[in-house]
Amino acid sequence: MTFRWIRSFCAATVLLCLSTLIISSSAVIYDQYSDLPLGKEYDFVIAGGGTAGLALASRLSENSAFNVLVLEAATSSIGVFNITVPYFSTRNMLQYDWNLTTTVQSGLGDRWLFFPRRFILGGSSSINGMFYTRGSVDDFNCFAGVTGDDGWSWDNIQQYLALNERLVSPAGNPNTADEFDPDVHYIGGAVDVSLPSFSQNIDSKVLDAAHELGGVYSYNEDVNSGMPLGLGWLPRTIDSKGRRSSSVTAYLSDESRDNLDVLVNARVARVVPTKNRNTTAGYSFRTVDFTQNITDVTASKEGVVGSPQILLNSGIGNSTALSAAGITPLIDLPSVGQNLSDQPFIANAFLANTSNTYDDINRNDTVLKEALTEWLGEDRLPGVFRGAGPLGDTFANQISYYRVSEELTGHYGDFSAGVTSPHLEIYPGNGYFLTPPTTGYYLSMTTVVVSPASRGSITVNDSNPFTPPLIDPGYLTVDFDVAAIKEAFKILYTFLNASVWDDYILEPPVGLPSIPDFFTMNSTQLDAQLESYVRNSTSSSAHPVGTVAMSAKNASYGVLDPDLKVKGVDGLRVVDASAFPFVTCSHTQVPVYVFVERAAEIIKASWQ
Ligand SMILES: *[C@@H]1O[C@H](CO)[C@@H](O)[C@H](O)[C@H]1NC(C)=O
Ligand SMILES: *[C@@H]1O[C@H](CO)[C@@H](O)[C@H](O)[C@H]1NC(C)=O
Ligand SMILES: *[C@@H]1O[C@H](CO)[C@@H](O)[C@H](O)[C@H]1NC(C)=O
Ligand SMILES: *[C@@H]1O[C@H](CO)[C@@H](O)[C@H](O)[C@H]1NC(C)=O
Ligand SMILES: *[C@@H]1O[C@H](CO)[C@@H](O)[C@H](O)[C@H]1NC(C)=O
Ligand SMILES: *[C@@H]1O[C@H](CO)[C@@H](O)[C@H](O)[C@H]1NC(C)=O
Ligand SMILES: *[C@@H]1O[C@H](CO)[C@@H](O)[C@H](O)[C@H]1NC(C)=O
Ligand SMILES: *[C@@H]1O[C@H](CO)[C@@H](O)[C@H](O)[C@H]1NC(C)=O
Ligand SMILES: *[C@@H]1O[C@H](CO)[C@@H](O)[C@H](O)[C@H]1NC(C)=O
Ligand SMILES: *[C@@H]1O[C@H](CO)[C@@H](O)[C@H](O)[C@H]1NC(C)=O
Ligand SMILES: *[C@@H]1O[C@H](CO)[C@@H](O)[C@H](O)[C@H]1NC(C)=O
Ligand SMILES: *[C@@H]1O[C@H](CO)[C@@H](O)[C@H](O)[C@H]1NC(C)=O
Repeated sequence: MTFRWIRSFCAATVLLCLSTLIISSSAVIYDQYSDLPLGKEYDFVIAGGGTAGLALASRLSENSAFNVLVLEAATSSIGVFNITVPYFSTRNMLQYDWNLTTTVQSGLGDRWLFFPRRFILGGSSSINGMFYTRGSVDDFNCFAGVTGDDGWSWDNIQQYLALNERLVSPAGNPNTADEFDPDVHYIGGAVDVSLPSFSQNIDSKVLDAAHELGGVYSYNEDVNSGMPLGLGWLPRTIDSKGRRSSSVTAYLSDESRDNLDVLVNARVARVVPTKNRNTTAGYSFRTVDFTQNITDVTASKEGVVGSPQILLNSGIGNSTALSAAGITPLIDLPSVGQNLSDQPFIANAFLANTSNTYDDINRNDTVLKEALTEWLGEDRLPGVFRGAGPLGDTFANQISYYRVSEELTGHYGDFSAGVTSPHLEIYPGNGYFLTPPTTGYYLSMTTVVVSPASRGSITVNDSNPFTPPLIDPGYLTVDFDVAAIKEAFKILYTFLNASVWDDYILEPPVGLPSIPDFFTMNSTQLDAQLESYVRNSTSSSAHPVGTVAMSAKNASYGVLDPDLKVKGVDGLRVVDASAFPFVTCSHTQVPVYVFVERAAEIIKASWQ
């Protein structure tokens, strides 16, 4: 064992060890295994300090009798300025990503894609777009139906939303009373949620267009009521000083807690079996193997794993496929890694007749500096509140949801959870999404299929736990998804045909027709052009789920029981988005927090 080597390393560079040891007000964050308290025995070891891992660690360690350890592969994100500033979520911060790519995607003209997976403490919650969207009544009722556990129903998850959400006034305290329904929000939870703080040039146009058109565009007073259809304001996980609220800031910073340790730079390879005659399988999985030149840590109660790759590396999966990859199969669970689904995403940029967008922030340092000074507030600019200006917001102020036509569902089937669930999401952004071209000002209208039919997989091809897995999201491999995006364009172009946009839109995105042409061109040609554009332009929305899906207790498929325990395995649960049986019609962070809050309750109750 190399423990000794690490100790001498520390002894030789004591300052390094000390200066890299960050003590937050609650958990202690360690850089080196050798810094962990000697002889401390952990009741729970959590693999992955992401959105779910940190929130779960925080909840479990509320019981002072439990010692909890989190293992996180990345470094700490505490105090990283670019993470704190909400608007910087529009940047590709590759230093905080695993830099994985998909396999060649037949549905995308044989392209392969960058597949976001965050490499930072707090995971996606440290770097995402912060959209606060819950999904629909039917999403959760369907989770309850599929698993036979009413605890996942919309009514029952309200208590977990309440533990997670703290609705606050946005920075600068603008009047947002008309932008949400207070009856569907909670004010006592961990994560700060607020309505947009900075008025965008396009806000009134977006709302006027919805008003002018009515129908499916009708104003929805609150898209988080469980009935998301229509167009409404978008709450975000941003605090009242215009800063990102993540699982790090929300769950790791409350009270002093010496029973919660976080070890960063610790990459989990697998879970390891220990003989246990009391279990059906003959062993438990309570030991976690990870690198920092250290072999393993054992949890006396449970380990919690966040990834199908770790299960496969551990011999839990399709036995035939594992053998072929050179991994000794231990538990035959063929669903591990299967049923991957992600929401196909296209940010469509229309050239706009304005200079009042956020494009210059992303390409002109003078404008960026001015915006930063404004965001920093009173320290720099007397009388200006903290979090002021465009940097205190994310890249969308409103969001809208639609169902595809009954013609389409009649033809292909309905892949949504039910009538309260949209198939499509469209949201406006006052500028180009990510890095803008050097000239021009843009209106981006992002289209997403939130209830996709396509499924893919995550598999391993060899026995080295650190070989990147084969990621095949199967984008647009079911025709429904392409047909649904085509309908999204019909909805979008009709929206942009409202009179408020008349002098505003100058040019369509490269590859798409102009607004008048869309309605007059030969429909066969339009169809072919849309199909080509869609297959060329689709990318990941960073919402992959389903690879370690929960199912009913005696189901013939699935990986987890409804209490998130790995089927037939003692000592192991999976608490993250991979446990979703399908993707909710929303962004994934709120449903992930719901899973964590319920899992924490279940786990605490089972060890009382
Ligand atoms: C933060 O963002 C600024 C502006 O893009 C960049 O210059 C800087 O390198 C970033 N800092 C870190 C630590 O990534
Ligand atoms: C991903 O690439 C960036 C450079 O583009 C690098 O800084 C980062 O460390 C890489 N991530 C991992 C997990 O290696
Ligand atoms: C097996 O069960 C017995 C009786 O409940 C208990 O004493 C023992 O500790 C259990 N063994 C393991 C490895 O959990
Ligand atoms: C592990 O050991 C290797 C050399 O054997 C060293 O380069 C590396 O920095 C060590 N990693 C940690 C986390 O101590
Ligand atoms: C397991 O994997 C093998 C080989 O990849 C495949 O042929 C088989 O269909 C899979 N079994 C199940 C039950 O999915
Ligand atoms: C994928 O999910 C469906 C239910 O949506 C289920 O019928 C099927 O068995 C699952 N496939 C695997 C390999 O788990
Ligand atoms: C950047 O913005 C400043 C302030 O608005 C402006 O004066 C300058 O011309 C811009 N620079 C470029 C290269 O557009
Ligand atoms: C899988 O492993 C085999 C044998 O090492 C290798 O030839 C093949 O290229 C790998 N496949 C992928 C997709 O990486
Ligand atoms: C587009 O707008 C024009 C002018 O308001 C209107 O006459 C036309 O019916 C609209 N087209 C569609 C398809 O909505
Ligand atoms: C741009 O907008 C101005 C009014 O703001 C209008 O006068 C002008 O005609 C518009 N240009 C185009 C090409 O639509
Ligand atoms: C899609 O990409 C192909 C190959 O680059 C190109 O020929 C085609 O014009 C593109 N389609 C659209 C609609 O942009
Ligand atoms: C539309 O275009 C297709 C193929 O390009 C052609 O066969 C068809 O006749 C056209 N329809 C009309 C109404 O022009």
